[in-house]
Amino acid sequence: MSGRPFAEVLSVGSAVPERVLTNHELSQVLDTSDQWIVERTGIRERRIAAPEQSVAMLSRDASLLALERAGVGVEEIDTIVLATASPDRLLPSTACDLQALLGASNAAAFDVGAACPGYVYALTVAEGLIASGQSRTVLVIGAEKLSTITDFQDRSTAILFGDGAGASVVRRAQGSGRGILSTFLKSDGRLAPLLYRPGGGSADPISEKVVCERSHYMKMAGREVFKAAVLAMAEACDAALTRAGVSADEVDLMIPHQANLRIIEATAKHANMPMSKVMVNLDRFGNTSSASIPLALDQAVAEGRVGPGSLLLLVAFGAGFTWGSAVVRW
Ligand code: ACO
Repeated sequence: MSGRPFAEVLSVGSAVPERVLTNHELSQVLDTSDQWIVERTGIRERRIAAPEQSVAMLSRDASLLALERAGVGVEEIDTIVLATASPDRLLPSTACDLQALLGASNAAAFDVGAACPGYVYALTVAEGLIASGQSRTVLVIGAEKLSTITDFQDRSTAILFGDGAGASVVRRAQGSGRGILSTFLKSDGRLAPLLYRPGGGSADPISEKVVCERSHYMKMAGREVFKAAVLAMAEACDAALTRAGVSADEVDLMIPHQANLRIIEATAKHANMPMSKVMVNLDRFGNTSSASIPLALDQAVAEGRVGPGSLLLLVAFGAGFTWGSAVVRW
């Protein structure tokens, strides 16, 4: 096999719950205000899944759209790679639940745990599986039900997160120049305690103590995460552009992880990208972790901001810490 692009991103689809939770509603139950949240984050509202609406169900809805748009049948999927930080169960993977919902009986299915850059990590895994010849048609999903791991008594995190899913069909490149031109992944596990769920895993299994201490919810040192995110997103932009051999000027649209408008603006400034070339939709959906990039990409396609031949820079940062980026010719 010759060099990149090995794989093309054929399509994107997304799904969000109907229920909208506004800043105003949060300010009724927490010591916060719409003004504070908008000024510090850019977020105005987020979506919250219904109790019975699972990550696998949101993923199914996004996947069916992506498959239809790609003109690919469920039976053609040979691999499902699902990124999530809020799996429906710890065993088996949410990817297997999605496989069952789709009836994708010819696929291997597994989850990727990489927090907010999960979609970029999953895309990179898909590309590698295609390049090795293991896979031909991969369904890549980023999906979250963060509302179940968010502490709605903690104003510093409750205002940030939302639920949703995005999916893409990724296939062996056809030689048209379309596809994944570069990827970059990096992590620093020493910083895990700055953004984590201390309890509820095998290190501290769910117990009365875990529930009383609320340690099964996300804990975050916001200011430290913010500073690290700005540096890491800048590094990730530079690395993906260098590896793709393209300059920031050539990029048609940057699609950053939607965590905080100020982080996005700092990243755009570093990359020399005017905000007119940066996709922002966190005002409507908040931080949906691994779903945020495909959600934003889907909206950008719907708005006509991404079309055939568009050069995209995807960049994300999250718990781990993990960060990553990709340059994609749409
Ligand atoms: N409403 C009102 N006041 C608040 C709120 C709130 N919702 N939250 C915090 N405050 C207060 C604090 O208590 C603090 O008060 P003090 O000065 O009296 O101590 C003050 O506001 C400032 O707090 P900071 O935490 O310094 O506020 P900051 O400007 O840093 O904004 C925020 C906080 C929005 C969380 C920001 O730090 C941030 O976005 N961090 C990055 C989050 C992120 O990118 N996560 C990415 C990955 S997510 C993942 O992987 C799942």
